[in-house]
Amino acid sequence: MSHVASQLAILTSLAIWLAVQCSGNMDIVGRRVTALPGFDSEEDGRDPGMHTFTHTHMRKAFRLMNDLRSRRMLCDVLLVAGEVEIPAHKVVLASCSPYFCAMFTGEMSESKAPRVEIRDMDGQTLTKLVDYIYTAQIEVSEDNVQVLLPAASLLQLMDVRQVCCEFLQAQLHPTNCLGIRAFADLHACTDLLNHAHAYAEQHFSEVMQGEEFMSLSLQQVCSLISSDKLTVSTEEKVFEAMIAWIKHDKEARLEYMPKLMEHVRLPLLSRDYLVQIVEEEALIKNNNTCKDFLIEAMKYHLLPADQRHLIKTDRTRPRTPVSLPKVMIVVGGQAPKAIRSVECYDFQEDRWYQVADLPSRRCRAGVVFMAGKVYAVGGFNGSLRVRTVDVYDGVRDHWSAVPSMQERRSTLGAAVLGDLLYAVGGFDGSTGLSSVEAYNPKTNEWVFVAPMNTRRSSVGVGVVDGKLYAVGGYDGASRQCLSTVEEYNPVSNKWGYVADMSTRRSGAGVGVLDGQLYAAGGHDGPLVRKSVEVYDPATNTWRQVCDMNMCRRNAGVCAINGLLYVIGGDDGSCNLSSVEYYNPAMDKWSLIPTNMSNGRSYAGVSVIDKPL
Ligand SMILES: *[C@@H]1O[C@H](CO)[C@@H](O)[C@H](O)[C@H]1NC(C)=O
Ligand SMILES: *[C@@H]1O[C@H](CO)[C@@H](O)[C@H](O)[C@H]1NC(C)=O
Ligand SMILES: *[C@@H]1O[C@H](CO)[C@@H](O)[C@H](O)[C@H]1NC(C)=O
Ligand SMILES: *[C@@H]1O[C@H](CO)[C@@H](O)[C@H](O)[C@H]1NC(C)=O
Repeated sequence: MSHVASQLAILTSLAIWLAVQCSGNMDIVGRRVTALPGFDSEEDGRDPGMHTFTHTHMRKAFRLMNDLRSRRMLCDVLLVAGEVEIPAHKVVLASCSPYFCAMFTGEMSESKAPRVEIRDMDGQTLTKLVDYIYTAQIEVSEDNVQVLLPAASLLQLMDVRQVCCEFLQAQLHPTNCLGIRAFADLHACTDLLNHAHAYAEQHFSEVMQGEEFMSLSLQQVCSLISSDKLTVSTEEKVFEAMIAWIKHDKEARLEYMPKLMEHVRLPLLSRDYLVQIVEEEALIKNNNTCKDFLIEAMKYHLLPADQRHLIKTDRTRPRTPVSLPKVMIVVGGQAPKAIRSVECYDFQEDRWYQVADLPSRRCRAGVVFMAGKVYAVGGFNGSLRVRTVDVYDGVRDHWSAVPSMQERRSTLGAAVLGDLLYAVGGFDGSTGLSSVEAYNPKTNEWVFVAPMNTRRSSVGVGVVDGKLYAVGGYDGASRQCLSTVEEYNPVSNKWGYVADMSTRRSGAGVGVLDGQLYAAGGHDGPLVRKSVEVYDPATNTWRQVCDMNMCRRNAGVCAINGLLYVIGGDDGSCNLSSVEYYNPAMDKWSLIPTNMSNGRSYAGVSVIDKPL
């Protein structure tokens, strides 16, 4: 029995060995590099005994060959690059590199030569690549990737090339994407080229501020700003980018102005902007061709809206950026104490993953998305209510600080209205607050605006049609949970009451979907609610919708793709890890399939672009 078994084992291992040989040695060595530096990782789930045996065999053999190489034994070729000489075994080099294979087996003079000079490569790089051939390990870094990739291409070490491309793709940033794009183009890395190009289009507002953009050629600028896929908040960005590019080297570039104006969709700019900025721009004033584009835009604005489609040029077509996939970001919270952890939910992949922790513990903060960044405003750090504000840059996966609020606030409401971030009410550690302050990223300052009529901690806020709503909460003075709701008009800087909710809600999840303001759950004293009501500002009325699956208070809320998500919270005894969403078309709440890694209440939630 045992005799048969061991014979079988030998046969099986022979079969595996043959299979591996036929699929090419490159595969064995190459595959490992993608799992850098995982030389020791076993990759599939086949019979572990057999598999381990085979792998050990290969690994041992290569280790020995490398050992022989370092002792210069059995070497039959000397590779030379610059000052560096590397003794090696032809058969090993040939087995991994089609370039060496052709060289040593072909008719070329090198096939017999004991000494082969590799041109266009420095000694250090060649050393790394030969090491890779023997060890399946290579370290790609910012410092070497630009020489490694062309060198790997030359030797046709496609796995190394691939790893270099993936490395560069992970480095994409508004300040380097155009350079990476040019590099990918030069070395025919199609995938990387496409990624870098799409990245530049999607982050154009930031890309246009960089050195790389200023150094583009006329043709490159034209190709970028003529793209329908350019992501810009308004066409103003494109106009500004063009002017900045010309002014960067005015003497040489001035003559290109009409050529560039052809791609700026002036008709899509607002009337005010056309009159105030564009018409005043000296570069345009002084050239008739440029003026013609301005006149075209003015004409467009003079026509009644229903006749504008009659002007058909490339410049009246709105841009249609590919919308980036989004993820939900859940910031801090209590689990059960204040935590620093931040996790993201990928809607497409139904997957949670951690991103950079908050710089310090924070729960009960106000969390909003503004101008590409996530702000975590105030909150409680486990011992104190804080006035500090941290900002998350999803591209860099990095938190940094901006100026603090004037007041300490936890359980505040935070929302973006116009260009300002509002911090509404909350609790400073001794009393509930009616005060409201606003942060202007341009001046980098917090300024008080009119206070609410009521002190509100555990308040929820939302913005509909240019008005800010403060919903329910807790009034420390009257010791009551509130059903009242106030509306803020930023133009008159005044708060006024609107219709009350049907019931008192403190710590409700407040969010906006399709111009309607939702108040989900919350509590009145010890009673935690699962009911949900919706406010329609047009009719100044609240109506009940379907209950949530669970009672929740102090949950996070966000809206995306026509659905309203309510995240975590607590039900009075437990902090919840589950997330549910409301579909208004079906009047139905459903749980998402995968819970957060932790139960969290008092977390802040926002939606951001999925990082590359
Ligand atoms: C406007 O610029 C174009 C391109 O440089 C030039 O050919 C044309 O003569 C200029 N027109 C005027 C009136 O300056
Ligand atoms: C849940 O969070 C609350 C604060 O919201 C905390 O007091 C409590 O200890 C937590 N409960 C559990 C079971 O973690
Ligand atoms: C909370 O913030 C205060 C003031 O900034 C600080 O002194 C304290 O160490 C913080 N506590 C924790 C637990 O981070
Ligand atoms: C998620 O949490 C809820 C309770 O909050 C639980 O009922 C559900 O089974 C959990 N789902 C998963 C997939 O663990």
